[in-house]
Amino acid sequence: MNRNTTVYLYELAWILPSIAIPVGMLAALTVTAFGAGIHLPSMAGRVDPRRVTATAPFDAPGVVQVGPGIYEVRMTSQIWTFTPNEIRVPAGATVTFVATSQDVVHGLFIPQAHVNAMLLPGQVTRVTARFDTPGEFPMMCHEYCGIAHHTMAGRVIVEPRR
Ligand code: CUA
Repeated sequence: MNRNTTVYLYELAWILPSIAIPVGMLAALTVTAFGAGIHLPSMAGRVDPRRVTATAPFDAPGVVQVGPGIYEVRMTSQIWTFTPNEIRVPAGATVTFVATSQDVVHGLFIPQAHVNAMLLPGQVTRVTARFDTPGEFPMMCHEYCGIAHHTMAGRVIVEPRR
């Protein structure tokens, strides 16, 4: 094998994976999108981002008990707060956060409860968590949303069951 052929083989060894990898990724994307049905939330979960505070359930943000031990938090996010910013539930509560953003992309991150979601303007986010242990759990924005992003935080207070 002469030197020129060796160089050619090295080139081929780089070029083939650089074609095969994107083709493989595109195939994986196609399979998950059309085969497994993974997609963005549907139109059913949308609100007009300019009229969030006038649209149910975001016109009355807060914690609502919807069943025995089951709570729903109707939440809006805006620079640089969550409404409500402090959430109180009893230990053992199953809490569904129904949230959206009024302005820019925010995040909802409650590490101890494994809540990690994006809040997009006009898109309704739903995420459910269980709070078994009494205590105070920080809840913060983890999508950079402007100059005071680092101050955008609240807490979930889980009260011991009486
Ligand atoms: Cu809101 Cu960062």
